[in-house]
Amino acid sequence: MASKVTVTTLLQMKSKKEKIVALTAYDYPFSRLVDESEVDVILIGDSLGMVVQGESSTLPVTMDEMVYHTRIVARGASRAMVVGDMPFMSYQTELSDALFNAGRLLKEAGAAAIKLEGGASVCGLVEAMTRAGIPVMAHIGLTPQSVHQMGGFRVQRDRDRLLEDARQVEAAGAFSVVLEGIPADIAKEITDTLKIPTIGIGAGPDCDGQILVLHDLLGINEGHVPKFVKKYADLAGAAREGLRRYVKEVRGGKFPDKEHCY
Ligand code: KIV
Repeated sequence: MASKVTVTTLLQMKSKKEKIVALTAYDYPFSRLVDESEVDVILIGDSLGMVVQGESSTLPVTMDEMVYHTRIVARGASRAMVVGDMPFMSYQTELSDALFNAGRLLKEAGAAAIKLEGGASVCGLVEAMTRAGIPVMAHIGLTPQSVHQMGGFRVQRDRDRLLEDARQVEAAGAFSVVLEGIPADIAKEITDTLKIPTIGIGAGPDCDGQILVLHDLLGINEGHVPKFVKKYADLAGAAREGLRRYVKEVRGGKFPDKEHCY
């Protein structure tokens, strides 16, 4: 069995200029498939609110739901590093709540690290978690939990602020940072400036790694998909075709046939 990807592996990959491949997953069967494909990092993103639960934003996702999904994903991942996402309001109230909730993702769910959204404003949390032995992946740029504050899911273009956020989360101890929805030239500048790896989503080709939402790239999510998504398969089409044939065969008395009877 290949050795487990760790924080150290990711730092080494950056220094060797090897691209880090990351992907979301939300359940055991897909976790196994993603892990077998040698994806380096599996994020149980709170995007599950939108792609699995059918919500219009990530805001309703609860801490208990994140613990549940992280646990079933962790069970399927033998090589990839498992990162659990901190949902909205699980870390914005009190530091002690944030530490307790982050700890749950490691203790109860088997994650190796957590991710939270925010730059300079969350540095105190990043420091405290890192001190407590909880590795933190930061997330700056388009931060979906701030959808109402941003006035929608908008590309973030304030270069100075983005650079400052990136520098500060690194200084606070984050082991990597997701750059979401920012112009490619700014993402490159941040990537060249930081020692920790940057993982891009809608941030161009020069980040140290890339992440996508699994249901977008496999064509399961047929709702709105952003410009940066590339669809690598059409699982919704394949599922629809299989379901159509099943319905037709049951109605037509063709299933079950002899082969599928005792
Ligand atoms: O929630 C999520 O899936 C994410 C990634 C898209 C980075 O935050």
